[in-house]
Parts: sequence; structure tokens; C-alpha cells
Amino acid sequence: MQTEDLVALTTPAALVEVDTMTANLDRMADYVKRHDLALRPHIKTHKIPALATEQLRRGAEGVTVATVREATLMADVCDDILVAYPPVGSARLDGIMTLPESVRLTVALDSATALDALSTRAATAGRIVGVLVEMDVGMGRVGLGDEGDIVELAARASDASGIEFRGVLFYPGHIRQRVSEQEQALAELGSLIEARIGALTDAGLAPETVSGGSTPAAFASHRIPGLTSIRPGTYIFNDRTTAQIGACGSRDCALTVLATVVSTAIGGQAVIDAGSKALGREPLRSTADGGGFGEVAGRPEVIVRAMSEEHGILDLTRSDWRPAVGDRVRIVPNHVCYVVNLHPQLYATREDRIVERWPVVARGWT
Ligand SMILES: Cc1ncc(COP(=O)(O)O)c(C=O)c1O
Repeated sequence: MQTEDLVALTTPAALVEVDTMTANLDRMADYVKRHDLALRPHIKTHKIPALATEQLRRGAEGVTVATVREATLMADVCDDILVAYPPVGSARLDGIMTLPESVRLTVALDSATALDALSTRAATAGRIVGVLVEMDVGMGRVGLGDEGDIVELAARASDASGIEFRGVLFYPGHIRQRVSEQEQALAELGSLIEARIGALTDAGLAPETVSGGSTPAAFASHRIPGLTSIRPGTYIFNDRTTAQIGACGSRDCALTVLATVVSTAIGGQAVIDAGSKALGREPLRSTADGGGFGEVAGRPEVIVRAMSEEHGILDLTRSDWRPAVGDRVRIVPNHVCYVVNLHPQLYATREDRIVERWPVVARGWT
């Protein structure tokens, strides 16, 4: 493809600096290699098969997905897929079971209801589906929190027809404090995982896979005893939240939303054409409030203070910078996964040139 100048691009538009993304991918691939961990990136962050291919080319053992659409589209480039979402409801079960036979399929779940329905479908289809029992480790979203319940569901999985019990999975989404302040949470997590692996092993159900990992705690994964595989997603692009907690540097944020200044009529602010439709109304998770909805790249003192759907209000009160109507700015979003889901395509860039367009094919909730 011929490169194009960014000047011609209609805003708002999501840009990805390819060299920054490549460095992020290389850093994680190098980390897991050094610590003998498997990497199974969550592709919910990018939803683009070509980017999953980049992750696999760097040694990822497979990919993690949340939706049937993500699974279906990733099956074109990957033959080892983990569905890290409870397979409840016939649409989800049908979708999973229609993945090509060549795909080694693993599903995370936390109930006998979900397990039994999956087992019935797998046995009918004459297919073996792997199961990871999902454990809650403090986030309080999904996953069993009681050791006895975990062992019981693992035993049920190992006896179920059409099912192969492959181990356990957890998401440490509660560890979102600054990296320098994660010490205690990591120690508690390590003890919990060790105890649960011990209980499973005592019951004759030693897990072959212990799958964990999120971007905020990714580079501490080697300190969790028994962990075999990690599933970070955000790390490919990073975002303002990740930088604020010190899990990456501000220069490691590869995705920005390009926007145009459309009004400076009111003092102390500039209005851009990226509002909640382009940035998402995601709070900065590392601050209680007042953190805004994004910041201007290279000017962290200028935040998106408020938004309507098509308007983003830049707060200029802490800056001498005064953009003019028609100027373009890049916004570092608070939560990049959310932003990607809002955009039909990402523009891969090198400095001010567009080098490729990536349709975000796996967008949506199904
Ligand atoms: C189950 C699960 N695993 C892994 C991830 C990836 O986490 P992160 O985006 O922090 O890298 C997510 C993200 O939401 C998730 O829900």
C-alpha cells in the first residue's frame, strides 16, 4: 500500500504507531521466554486477525477470546483458542461448537450448569473440548472462590464426556494499583494459587494449565508459583491507565485518537471532535475521579475534562498551550480496549504517514 499523509484523514480516527506496538509485542514475548511462561494474548484489545498473527509469530501458544465472533474470526489465523467467558446460552454454545475441528478449543467456566451443557454438545458433536475451571482471586466478577467448589467442579469436568479437564484460570483484575505498590497483593495471590493447586493435586486433579495474567501485573507473573500461561491483552497498545500505574511508560502508548480542534470560543478550554463516541466514557481507574477521559499525547497536563457524544472538552487551565481551531491533536485514551471496539478501523502509522488500515473485524458483543 502507498503511504498516505495523515493530514487528509477524517477525524476522529484511531491511530496505531506501528513501531511502538512492535516494541510492546517484543517486550512481552521476551519476558515470557525468559521466565518459561506460555503467552496466550487476549485479542479483545485489538480484535484484528493480522495482529493476532504478529503475536503468534513471536511465540504465543494460541489466543484468548471473549466472544463467539472473536473466536470465529481468530480461527482463520490460529488453531489453538481459549474462550475465557462462560459458555452459557445456546447462541454461545452453537457458535463455539461450529469452530473448525482443526481448532484445539478450551473453554473457561465456573458452574456445573455451563459444564453439563458444554459436555452434552461436545459429546453429540463427537468432539473433545478442553475445560479450565475459572477461579475468583479477588476481583469478584466470575470464578469460584471456594477451594472445595473448585475441586468439585474440576472432578466433574474430568468425568464429563466430551470434556478434557485442562486446569484452572483466573483474572487478577483487582490488581490495578501502581506497580511499585503491588507487592502485598502479589504475595497474597501467590499463596492463594499455590494452595488451590495443592488442593487439586491432592485430589488427583493436578492442573496441566494454570492460566492467569493481566497487563498491570504481567511482568510479575513469574512470581506466582505454578503459573504456566498468561493472557495479557492491553499490552499490545497500552493506554493512559497502564502508563499511570507504571506498567508501561507514556511513550509505550501505541494507540491514540486523532481529533480536530473545532472550537476555542470559551476561555480555558478547547473543544475537539472526539467525544464519548470516539473515546468511550471510561474513567481513569487509577484515580477516584477528576482524572478526565484521556490526555493529549505529549501534554499530560491537558486532559479531556468532559464530553458529549461528538465533543471532547480539553481543559487548558493547567497549560500555556493554546491550540487554534483546525489544529489536530492526538488523545491517549484511558482504556484502549473500549476505544478499539468503537472504531471501524485502526490506521497503522509511522510518524505522520498511514502505512496500513486494519478493519476491526471482531467488534461487537456477540
Ligand atoms: C478473562 C480476561 N483475561 C485476560 C484479560 C486481559 O487483561 P488486560 O487487558 O489487563 O491485559 C482480560 C481483560 O479484560 C480478561 O477479561
